[in-house]
Amino acid sequence: MRLAKTMSAVAGGAALTLALAACGGSGAGGGGGADDAAGNGDEEIKVGVAMPTQTYERWIQDGNNVKKGLEENGYTVDLQFANDDIPTQTQQIDSMITEGVDALIIASIDGTALSSQLDAAAAANIPVIAYDRLINNSPNVDFYVTFDNYEVGVAQANSLLRGLGVLDKDGEETGEKGPFNVELFAGSADDNNSHFFYDGAMDTLKPYLDDGTLTVPSKQTDFDTVATQRWQQETAQKRMEDLLTSTYGGDTKLDGVLAPADPLSRGIITALQGAGMGPTIKDGLPVVTGQDAEIASIKLIDDGVQSSTIFKDTRNLADEAVNAATAFVEGEEPDANDTETYDNGEKVVPAHLLDIQPVFKDDIKPVLIDSDYYTADEVKKGQTD
Ligand code: BGC
Repeated sequence: MRLAKTMSAVAGGAALTLALAACGGSGAGGGGGADDAAGNGDEEIKVGVAMPTQTYERWIQDGNNVKKGLEENGYTVDLQFANDDIPTQTQQIDSMITEGVDALIIASIDGTALSSQLDAAAAANIPVIAYDRLINNSPNVDFYVTFDNYEVGVAQANSLLRGLGVLDKDGEETGEKGPFNVELFAGSADDNNSHFFYDGAMDTLKPYLDDGTLTVPSKQTDFDTVATQRWQQETAQKRMEDLLTSTYGGDTKLDGVLAPADPLSRGIITALQGAGMGPTIKDGLPVVTGQDAEIASIKLIDDGVQSSTIFKDTRNLADEAVNAATAFVEGEEPDANDTETYDNGEKVVPAHLLDIQPVFKDDIKPVLIDSDYYTADEVKKGQTD
């Protein structure tokens, strides 16, 4: 990036102060000014995009969509996936900073592990956009693009209640009081989102737990106990198997499971079917929720195996990240629609939140197929082309 290169050439505190003042004091890095993107056109704009893993389908799509959008702007992109390994991700970001990228878009693995990378980015005047997951404990996060994470949890809990028949399609209470036995799963504790998802879900389930409509027979309800380290499918499957052994050996029947992401839902379903339940909900498989509308889970929903998921249109998230990066590169501020919710321990990070949508079987066509997210054929196969 030009400004950073100029700064390193002249080095020194006074020059740094002047250079930052020239950026309009946005505190957001501010990019290299209006000439960067549209101006003389002879210097390359490069954006570093750090994604956590390729084991969850969504991050591959996120990475590819962000790259495509940036390239359509004429930017060069360094896209890296970190295999869910923190040192790999920190190294990748270090190299992007050394390369002199003009902006960073980061979906972190551990939201607290990137402070020194972000300090280095700020020193080089590189704006940082947290992608989907907030980066905590750093003043150097300039913008956050995400979905309404608390609402994801609310929608998961409402989907569980609807799957059990406590709520109807419109979210109205049916009068059904169970009692229903449920078990709860949360995401990785080092992912800031997991806390929002679980809080949204528990705030919604609380009245039903309090009035006895729902019971958690294992009594495992606190976040740390139900969290799933690094969002690993096998970990969720194993915990479900252990719960079945410890709590459901006798006459206790399990009715539903709050699962925070589709790969975990599938691990949980494998454990349930392995214990002889199902194979479908009609045959007695407990109601299992999800998140991300992964193609394998959409097929399971279509087949009556998984009850629901939450669709987050990652195409729109990628667009927002591209818009934010473009704004910074052009010396402008991105467009925030939330300046209150996301306190990262150092500051409230301005954010752009997108809407989410619960998906049951009836929603597959209108929500996913008609919007060209998947084709009908892909849903039938449970695989994208
Ligand atoms: C994302 C979810 C995803 C999970 C696991 C969360 O931060 O918001 O969409 O399922 O990570 O990758």
